[in-house]
Amino acid sequence: MRVLFVASECFPLIKTGGLADVVGALPLALSEQNVEATVFLPGFQLVLKGLKKKASHKPFKLNGETVNLVTGVTVNGVRVIALNAPKLFDFEGNPYQLPDGRDREGNGARYAAFSRVAVDVAMGNHGEPAFDVVHAHDWQAGLVCAYLSAEKAKVPASVVTIHNLAFQGIFPKSLMGEIALPERYYSEEGLEYWDKLSFLKAGIVYADHVTTVSPSYALEIQSDNGGMGFGGLLRFRGHALSGIVNGIDTQIWNPQTDPDIPMTYTAADLRGKAKCKRALQKDMGLQQKSDAPLFAVVSRLTTQKGLDLLVDAVEQIKMLGGQLVVVGSGDKSIERAFKSATEASPKNVACFIGYDETLAHRVQAGADAIIIPSRFEPCGLTQLCAMRYGTIPVVGRVGGLNDTVIDANVAALTKGCATGVQFSPIDPHMLAAAINRSFALYRQPKLWDEIVQNCLAQDVSWSASAEDYAALYARLIG
Ligand code: ADP
Ligand code: GLC
Repeated sequence: MRVLFVASECFPLIKTGGLADVVGALPLALSEQNVEATVFLPGFQLVLKGLKKKASHKPFKLNGETVNLVTGVTVNGVRVIALNAPKLFDFEGNPYQLPDGRDREGNGARYAAFSRVAVDVAMGNHGEPAFDVVHAHDWQAGLVCAYLSAEKAKVPASVVTIHNLAFQGIFPKSLMGEIALPERYYSEEGLEYWDKLSFLKAGIVYADHVTTVSPSYALEIQSDNGGMGFGGLLRFRGHALSGIVNGIDTQIWNPQTDPDIPMTYTAADLRGKAKCKRALQKDMGLQQKSDAPLFAVVSRLTTQKGLDLLVDAVEQIKMLGGQLVVVGSGDKSIERAFKSATEASPKNVACFIGYDETLAHRVQAGADAIIIPSRFEPCGLTQLCAMRYGTIPVVGRVGGLNDTVIDANVAALTKGCATGVQFSPIDPHMLAAAINRSFALYRQPKLWDEIVQNCLAQDVSWSASAEDYAALYARLIG
């Protein structure tokens, strides 16, 4: 079976978040299920530069511009087709936003053209054999499902995955004139959304099946609150909506072989992890205390991630004798708050404001616990990376964090299956309580070590979920 992923990011070519990790890893796991997945990407500078075994194909016209397809593979072996259309994609940096945080001009027309060509590729109109399934990811590819529904010929089955309902691809209705869809698509049953267009809504309405990245999030988004305006529509599509939890690439995230960490380690011998902690403390300028529980954050610094709440908990962590390392960037006010917390106590708090993949590995290996106080979290990947490195996740009980972490409550501790600490509701008091509980566990080394071992024993790979996707594709194509 041949599946065309349509997405705007793919690790390691271009990444702003977990979407890239998923698109860069799931195709490899699908190949174990006899699904041949190819990723269709915008031909950003970084994409064209990063592809290996590149080949250029026959030029064609797209909105008056001469463009072509470039095929190649990522360093990890994922097959890619990139749309080389310089007027649309010849820029560096973030695919959606300018450095000052404003949206790039022309995003609507840009991702509409991208989606239109994706459909032509999927239908076999550009020299590639036709695909059996088109799997669109997030709003950037949402129109794919609308274009497919407008075709008269037989089309591939379609799946749309919602990685984050907060990003809805909303554009003025005047864009209708530029996206080559019949006028009837501008309706309440179609793309119309509060007098505007929503590309994500196009995916939700027209896909044969809608998935999201965890079963809990699939339920949450059908509620009025969690639905962020689409609750009713998602309930309506509930029979064709499911949640499949993300995995991570366990080759890239592997404490036994990771070239980015100071010393590798295994579940049977964790001495390397203690060294990673010492090295991290040293590199970040923290006091080198092996018995100070070291909490970490590797994240976009946004209100989704609840990190404004963590700012207020820094004092508590310090008072209890712990340390905090923050790696991330995002909202300027949260960045500033962590910077001043660092200036106030550089021996106990450290932050790196920016994006650094290598540092992310060193933090996951060196920390004792990772804190993810998300207000909502479709899946979350950093708790999976943390468990893979024997680092205990302390998380809000929402979305994928609910599905992937087993709270160290009495029942789980008695049964010996706890993998972390969860709290709910997501507010300052419950976060404080979760931090207290984490310290209490840390001060009982036998218990803490047991939870660490449970984390290390978790299967956080893509295997099970790739099987679920393969079964879904098979069902859709009958
Ligand atoms: P989201 O996609 O909502 O940002 P995820 O947890 O799904 O959250 O994925 C985030 C990905 O980005 C993970 O691979 C994480 O390690 C990485 N990441 C986030 N912030 C940084 C950063 N500042 N430096 C390096 N990696 C980061
Ligand atoms: C989104 C979500 C995150 C998820 C990622 C990959 O960015 O915020 O929870 O893990 O997509 O699916």
